[in-house]
Amino acid sequence: MKLILLVALTLFTLAGRAADTVWLTSLDLAKMRQGWGTPQTDRSIREQPLTIGGHKFAHGVGTHAASSLWVDLAGGAERFLASVGVDDAAGNTRASVTFKIVGDGRTLWESGVLRLGQPAKTVDVDLQGVKTLILLVGDAGDGNGWDHADWADARFITSGATPKAMDPPREPAVVLTPKPGPAPRINGARIFGVRPGSPFLFTIAATGERPMKFAASGLPKGLKLDPQAGQITGALGRRGVYQVSFKASNRHGTARRKFRIVCGDTLALTPHMGWNSWYVWENRVTDAIMRAAADAMVSSGMRDHGYEYVNIDDCWAVKPGSPDPLLGGEPRDAEGRVNANGRFPDMKALTDYIHAKGLKAGIYTSPGPLTCAGHVGAYQHEAQDARRFAEWGFDFLKYDWCSYGDIARNPDRAALAKPYQLISGLLRQQPRDIVLNLCQYGMGNVWEWGASAGGNSWRTAGDLGGSFEGIPAALFRDGFDVYANNHLERYGGPGHWNDPDYLLLGYLSNWKGGTAPTPLTPNEQYTHVSLWSLLAAPLIFSGDITRLDAFTLGLLTNDEVIDVDQDPLGRPGRRVAKNGDTEVWMRELEDGTRAVGLFNRGEMATTVTARWADVGVSGRQIVRDLWRQQDLDKFTGEYAATVPRHGVVLVRLRPAK
Ligand code: GLA
Repeated sequence: MKLILLVALTLFTLAGRAADTVWLTSLDLAKMRQGWGTPQTDRSIREQPLTIGGHKFAHGVGTHAASSLWVDLAGGAERFLASVGVDDAAGNTRASVTFKIVGDGRTLWESGVLRLGQPAKTVDVDLQGVKTLILLVGDAGDGNGWDHADWADARFITSGATPKAMDPPREPAVVLTPKPGPAPRINGARIFGVRPGSPFLFTIAATGERPMKFAASGLPKGLKLDPQAGQITGALGRRGVYQVSFKASNRHGTARRKFRIVCGDTLALTPHMGWNSWYVWENRVTDAIMRAAADAMVSSGMRDHGYEYVNIDDCWAVKPGSPDPLLGGEPRDAEGRVNANGRFPDMKALTDYIHAKGLKAGIYTSPGPLTCAGHVGAYQHEAQDARRFAEWGFDFLKYDWCSYGDIARNPDRAALAKPYQLISGLLRQQPRDIVLNLCQYGMGNVWEWGASAGGNSWRTAGDLGGSFEGIPAALFRDGFDVYANNHLERYGGPGHWNDPDYLLLGYLSNWKGGTAPTPLTPNEQYTHVSLWSLLAAPLIFSGDITRLDAFTLGLLTNDEVIDVDQDPLGRPGRRVAKNGDTEVWMRELEDGTRAVGLFNRGEMATTVTARWADVGVSGRQIVRDLWRQQDLDKFTGEYAATVPRHGVVLVRLRPAK
């Protein structure tokens, strides 16, 4: 009797109209976000028939944790039905997921943890009155490896308008960073490493009205300061630690800051700050683009906040076989020295141009015969190329594995390290300081040996922006999970940093020949920069630096956030608490205070609590909001904040007297 009633209810709505079945697969699945791969229709993420616990399903969506789909029910949905579970093809017992259905902010249904081999769980959710639905798959708290998740036989029973996949609600792009005032403020790194005898170049970063006058007391012999430009040049003869005090004055006042110069073997005592051409210009980069980037680093004010490196990525060398006369040609001269392609007529003139602004220049190549984009690499010319880069005047080298995979097949750790040991040794022989960035996507746990191979930083994962639409998922995967799961805080430090890739903000290449604004929401962008600062990651912006809107500039130039990234102690932060979708990250700073990020990876705003016990502080603490640069209040025991979808509240705690 009950059963008959239920069937009758499914077929006829209260209004007496016949109900329709709308399959989940008929919605625009391009709007589904997921941690790996792309959503599949009527098959699993492995492109096999949907199978849960040995049972095959003809219909449904194959996805991968963490996955979310927002659905506008348009007031017409009655019920949602499905059978959910881990797809059998996941093939690893570590596969474990949770399914969750949220309607208008309320949890309507939760699966609990489902593992490989378990039978599908039946979903039957009443949707009457619900306007916005979110279908979620979580990683069950153990990372998303092998988390192949199926929404099998998933369908809506509707009586009116058809449910539609939708974008998450638009967030306003609120600029939180206060505008720098007219009085001087000295920013950026507070410690700087240089080798004895190397040309010294450091520009005191300071905001405030110009003209400004700079002074430095305690500058060691061999260095001189240009009082107008704030540029320190020269060379140091003697190893040692030199305590210096900077002063910047204008008609509104004077700022002072202590600074340490460490003359020894270690470069990059704080994470690199700068700009890289790849994610906006990829294979279109030219000399003119690089000069414009250097100009923009000054005119945008980024230099005044500590940004320094202007780095060419791939595509400056000759591309063998290219029909484009500017890209083709002789890859090397008669002596075997590498040639730039026709888009870079004079590399020395380019680095002179960059240096004249007090900035530094970076270049890129591969240990393989070809770079990732098919340009000439350094293979079997490593010594010549290291010398060439030094002669050209470069200060930074990104060394990208690429075709070296053809040289070292199935490399063990020694083989992975070999090309980096070789190049770092060669760079050390040059008469100038060249910072080395390892790029090999994290292979062989590079963080465990990158420093001993001579790297000043190493990419910890694949390309954060490898797929434009995939950037938000990559941010959470490569930013949070790769870092937390491998405890990368154990490996970063002064002279050797974890590099989760560039800041993907502003206008980026859409990989279709044009540019488009970052697909990250405003809150995701705050999450991106906050996390990078807590991780002590390089702050290398890779969007269009000549086209910065106020929001993007605010993200890049918050001095209190940058102070966290550039903290001289150089101890990277770590995750100290995780509770469902919320995470608390903490970084110890040189002055004994702590920076704390309260993150919400979930789809709905929620409260995130930083407990003193987790953060490692006690007593009354003054909590300062770093993005707003404002003290909030004094708190005891914990600090809790409402954090928006995919957003963050970044604070610094200092003991109340
Ligand atoms: C690889 C690197 C990227 C970029 C490109 C250039 O994919 O990881 O950062 O340098 O090569 O081809």
